[in-house]
Amino acid sequence: MSKLWGGRFQKKTSAAVDDFHSSISFDCRLYRYDIEGSMAHAEMLGRAGIITPEEAGAIVAGLREVLSDIESGRAEFSVEAEDIHMNVEQMLTGKIGAAAKKLHTARSRNDQVALDVRMYLRDQIDETVGLIDELRETLVEMAEKHLYTIMPGYTHLQRAQPVTLAHHLMAYVQMFGRDRERLLDCRRRVNVMPLGAGALAGTTFPLDPDFVAEKLGFEGVALNSLDAVSDRDFAVEFAAAASLIMVHLSRFCEEIILWSSAEFSFVEPDDEYSTGSSMMPQKKNPDVAELIRGKAGRVFGDLAALLTMLKGLPLAYNKDMQEDKEALFDAVDTVKKCLAIFRPMLATLKVREDNMIRAARGGFTNATDLADYLVRKGLPFREAHEVVGRAVLHCIGAGKSLDQVSLEEFRKFSPLVEEDVYEAISIRRCVEARKVLAGPSPESVREAIRRSGVGKARPENIGSRD
Ligand code: ARG
Repeated sequence: MSKLWGGRFQKKTSAAVDDFHSSISFDCRLYRYDIEGSMAHAEMLGRAGIITPEEAGAIVAGLREVLSDIESGRAEFSVEAEDIHMNVEQMLTGKIGAAAKKLHTARSRNDQVALDVRMYLRDQIDETVGLIDELRETLVEMAEKHLYTIMPGYTHLQRAQPVTLAHHLMAYVQMFGRDRERLLDCRRRVNVMPLGAGALAGTTFPLDPDFVAEKLGFEGVALNSLDAVSDRDFAVEFAAAASLIMVHLSRFCEEIILWSSAEFSFVEPDDEYSTGSSMMPQKKNPDVAELIRGKAGRVFGDLAALLTMLKGLPLAYNKDMQEDKEALFDAVDTVKKCLAIFRPMLATLKVREDNMIRAARGGFTNATDLADYLVRKGLPFREAHEVVGRAVLHCIGAGKSLDQVSLEEFRKFSPLVEEDVYEAISIRRCVEARKVLAGPSPESVREAIRRSGVGKARPENIGSRD
């Protein structure tokens, strides 16, 4: 088959070049958007009188057949036809003959590919947001069950102050909530229609980009032809948002991996979401969490690839830009796969509440509360800090926890201590007293759940939330 752009050439491209610059092996996934975009373009050409309404009708009907051929697996893509755009056009010519040759009037593959990628990404953003919504829903359901599950909160991975598992889970609801907003914000800039830009300098035909935009569900149209065909900042934005999702997933996975170790024993992954060792019979490994942590690097790589591809390009289109696709597709596939598998892995974790509270009791996580107690008795905080520090040192030497110190002993550190100290430093009380908004008390977490808006639509909540 001769090239659609063959007129100016006397020799065929070498087979090696065909193979090298062909993108059909990966851009074939854009077929549906390419066809929908072409249908809208043809219809617009017909309405504007640039082609006849009969020609437009024939093109649209032909494209519909091409679509069903591809979807049913009857169509075969050709490497020689380079990319999805020329493959579709060639298939259309095979179906309807002469009229097909008018489809590309007032259009270039440069604005066409920008259109296809934008339509594809718009859908992928919606799917990714859907997966985030499901994950946040699961996190909230778990949080509601674990409002009273006390565990140590950490800084420097050293036990610091008691929190609850619900509070910890809700931290991720916030993170994934921002990820969701970032995607939706990026979507606004993706959702701009570039057709009409032509190769780089628009066209002399009286096109109607607003009609095409409306038809294809775009919110706006491109206002500069050079920009429309030569930027991929929207893809970079997606990859950046996807990278942050991966950062959040990866941190959570790291915690699940730590928590699954015998040293922590806070959780145990379900058999369905763990694997064994080929050599060590006793092993049960949190592979899913590890693999998600590992895949974060791919998405950061995709972001770096997109940025690097763009940074030295003079306006307008350059073939380098064909490299946007594999990076973008990989970021899309990876983030979706990770979100999809993370959710059931998390939901099926067995939580070892007893070990969590034991750990919270063990690490002097109530030391700050003892200092606060002394402050309430009138001691300046800096002095209270010093007093409690000495009491902790004493306990370390004596191998006990603060609540095991007798009143008499306490009074050696400060005469301000009274019988009510034990209530003030009980772990449960330490959590329940942290009632500040954004704090770990069950009351505060319940309020955070309410304000997060997640789970509002769940039937059991109708009537109980605003
Ligand atoms: N396959 C190409 C891409 O993905 C389509 C645009 C080609 N344009 C061109 N002038 N060679 O970027």
